[in-house]
Amino acid sequence: MRQKLVVGNWKMHGSTAQVRRLIEGVATGSAGLAKVEIAVGPTLLHMGLAAELCASEAAGHLKLAAQNLFAEPAGAFTGEVSAPMLAEYGVNYVIVGHSERREIFAETDQVVAAKFKATQASGLIPILCVGESLAQREAGTSAEVVLAQLNAVIETAGIEALRSAVLAYEPIWAIGTGKTASKEQAQEIHRVLREHIAKSDTAVAQGIRILYGGSVNAANATELFSQADIDGGLVGGASLKVEEFVSICKSAD
Ligand code: PGA
Repeated sequence: MRQKLVVGNWKMHGSTAQVRRLIEGVATGSAGLAKVEIAVGPTLLHMGLAAELCASEAAGHLKLAAQNLFAEPAGAFTGEVSAPMLAEYGVNYVIVGHSERREIFAETDQVVAAKFKATQASGLIPILCVGESLAQREAGTSAEVVLAQLNAVIETAGIEALRSAVLAYEPIWAIGTGKTASKEQAQEIHRVLREHIAKSDTAVAQGIRILYGGSVNAANATELFSQADIDGGLVGGASLKVEEFVSICKSAD
């Protein structure tokens, strides 16, 4: 059985007061949950504070996710942060290939693959995001698009690398739009991803967690998480509200 995972992607939101409130609230609200694994993803600036808070006994069950990194371990890369730096802060997961990074910051498949490898090289677990645009969905190419994004990483890192990785299917048209993929639409792409991996390695395919992301909320989480190939969620907007995020975590428990 794959353990469900719910990750809050806070994006560029938060003040120190809000980070405190969110972590303390989520920690308290999720204290009794035995099965689901929960991670919070603050900005890099707030990672130190988040790490401190998550080191407390009350919040010790919360994991930390970074939203981004740079693929080199150190050097003259003004403004960037590396995997070894994140590892020192006790970060567990790193989101790579989010559509906002691909679109706004022009990250190519090659850049994403390099970030994926750098994450694993420091012992951290990448959460590799794949997803199609609305035009690509309407053209009927959703499966083709996500498989190409996945293949770009497999070609660089190898199929074995997926043993210690998480996938996230995030249809771009569903991110921040309030327009969730139906459970059938999401399950279909998750199945395609898992079957594709199974062609190379069935054990890796069975073991890898595939999260759904795109307007997950307290009202739709249960039906999404009940699908055979959906192993949790990558949650944006709803992760900034304590009660709603805790409710989503309960749906996965
Ligand atoms: P959303 O964002 O839940 O606000 O749609 C999800 C994401 O971008 O990871």
